[in-house]
Amino acid sequence: MKITKAIFSGSSSNVKDKPSLKLPEFAFIGRSNVGKSSLINSLCMQGKLAHTSSTPGKTQLVNHFMINEKWYLVDLPGYGYAKTSKTERERLGGVIRNYINESDELLLLFVLIDCRHDIQKIDLQFMIELGKADVPFAIILTKADKIGVVALKNRIEDNARALLEYWEELPPVFASSSSNGTGREEILDYIESIIEK
Ligand code: GTP
Ligand code: MG
Repeated sequence: MKITKAIFSGSSSNVKDKPSLKLPEFAFIGRSNVGKSSLINSLCMQGKLAHTSSTPGKTQLVNHFMINEKWYLVDLPGYGYAKTSKTERERLGGVIRNYINESDELLLLFVLIDCRHDIQKIDLQFMIELGKADVPFAIILTKADKIGVVALKNRIEDNARALLEYWEELPPVFASSSSNGTGREEILDYIESIIEK
């Protein structure tokens, strides 16, 4: 699939305030700074659509981007940024949970993990919660440009092993780079296959 049109459609902190058009939604979640907003820009080939920063905690609200006038990409705040106050972390957790649990249009959540690091406890806990709530998800290992092909393959295998301790079946796993476009086509084709189901 090619993205021919991507438009920012609004920010919200509660599902009742999200864009009113009922279209399929695909959202991006993961630890702060993992590259959610950058990946949205890379998929849309628009450098400045979603706001990014080298400092964690940039995205604070749920941001909807309407794609090809048919569906939405949704940029979520990150979780687990240790330097944010507890109150602020809880507020962001509430925004994330409200969207994931209450958005009827959410078809799939992409859980992003930095390919250089092991899956952390907070990521596993998050995915276990998704499993319990029956929220379909896929995994994207980000920043694939930062390591070599062999290292990436090893990281994918290590992560699969960690996940198989909790699940009998692995969710789909993609590798991506917002710097060189790795994974862009695979991720967009996967989204298309779900929309067409
Ligand atoms: P929050 O909104 O704070 O939760 O962060 P985020 O997950 O949206 O991360 P963001 O897209 O803002 O990127 C964080 C930093 O990582 C920025 O400095 C990006 O330039 C960098 N980055 C993101 N994706 C990639 C990538 O694929 N490769 C490389 N080399 N850097 C990346
Ligand atoms: Mg962001």
